[in-house]
Amino acid sequence: MNEPNSFLFIVHRSRFIVYSIVMRLAVNIDHIATIREVRKSDEPDPVAAAVLCELAGAQGITVHLRGDRRHIQDRDVEVLRRTVSTHLNVEMAATPEMVRVAQTVKPHQVTLVPERRDELTTEGGLDVVLHASNLEKVIRQLLDSGIEVSIFVDPDLEQIRHCHRLHAPKIEINTGKFTESWRRGNWSQDLEKLATAAKAARKVGIGVLAGHGINYRNIDAIARIEEIEELNIGHSIVARAALVGVEAAVREMIALMRSPRTLPTRG
Ligand code: PXP
Repeated sequence: MNEPNSFLFIVHRSRFIVYSIVMRLAVNIDHIATIREVRKSDEPDPVAAAVLCELAGAQGITVHLRGDRRHIQDRDVEVLRRTVSTHLNVEMAATPEMVRVAQTVKPHQVTLVPERRDELTTEGGLDVVLHASNLEKVIRQLLDSGIEVSIFVDPDLEQIRHCHRLHAPKIEINTGKFTESWRRGNWSQDLEKLATAAKAARKVGIGVLAGHGINYRNIDAIARIEEIEELNIGHSIVARAALVGVEAAVREMIALMRSPRTLPTRG
């Protein structure tokens, strides 16, 4: 059974309403497509992986349609839009080409991310301050097309204030720096930054997601941050799925999110 992560108390028309908030898992299946693309073959199929993730309890599927199409292809996004029965989130750069794709395919949600051609993976959050005028335009275009919008940002209060100014409905907080410091064993400051950023965003009504670098060892600390509604996890789940199968890998991650283990004392 899924235990609620936290409760939200709302007074609406003089009625006191209690919502339970369960942290959702969206599985990023890019690297299923990476395995296919290294051979330019037709397997494994990200659509089949998405179905297995959903059967195992994932509440969303995420893919990153990169400008260089190194893993996910346009056709994958189109077929996923027709087959994903939970929630399809497409990560993309805030470019006119990608806005056109989104307006045609209409995923449930777009997450705007920075993109560099020679990076191995997304390296940091979007600089919302620097790109404010383009982001304002793109957020409006997507919202007007009926698509939910999230912005991938570092856990930085100035960036979050700007997201609020741009009327971004949701943000995905970049957990990358925390997961790197976790590996080094000195993670408490970066964890604090994540928690502070999540609180600040929720306080001004922004929906809070988080992701990047989360795995089966560092999930416990993040799963305790009550303001986070959803985690986006890709590489570690696909890596484990290669050994134990997609459904087992997803179930194991969900179990850790629901019942985080005691944190080590160092950090
Ligand atoms: N969130 C964003 C914005 C990403 O770009 C990625 C990587 O594609 C992820 C989450 C997932 O990161 P990881 O594969 O390290 O779990």
